[in-house]
Amino acid sequence: MKKIIASSFIIAVLLASCTQKASVVTGPVSTSSEKLAQGKTIFENSCGRCHDLPEPTAHTSVQWVGIMNAMAPKAKLNDEQHQLVYDYVVSVKK
Ligand code: HEC
Repeated sequence: MKKIIASSFIIAVLLASCTQKASVVTGPVSTSSEKLAQGKTIFENSCGRCHDLPEPTAHTSVQWVGIMNAMAPKAKLNDEQHQLVYDYVVSVKK
């Protein structure tokens, strides 16, 4: 019995670690203020180089999914930075 519990635990952990690696950003993951501050810093440093810094409230959270999928590679963001910036822009309230 113990073995079954232990192995299902391992499978659960493996599954969880796989899902975390998914690079497709579809919605907010982190909303802690520390993460949002990190996202803001990356946004301010990376997203104003080619054009003016975009206004986070100018686009909906759905539009930002597509925008970030287009802009994250341009700004050479890794998956984690992509998610942090996304979480920041959609956290800004009008
Ligand atoms: C290497 C240059 C470059 C970087 C870096 C860059 N962008 Fe852009 N961005 C563009 C260009 C070029 C366009 C306009 C053409 C287009 O839509 O592809 C654009 C357009 C946009 C638009 C307008 C899209 C629309 O549909 O109105 C937004 C918003 C935007 N970028 C956000 C960002 C964000 C957020 C980042 C940081 C993650 C970023 N950009 C980094 C080049 C860049």
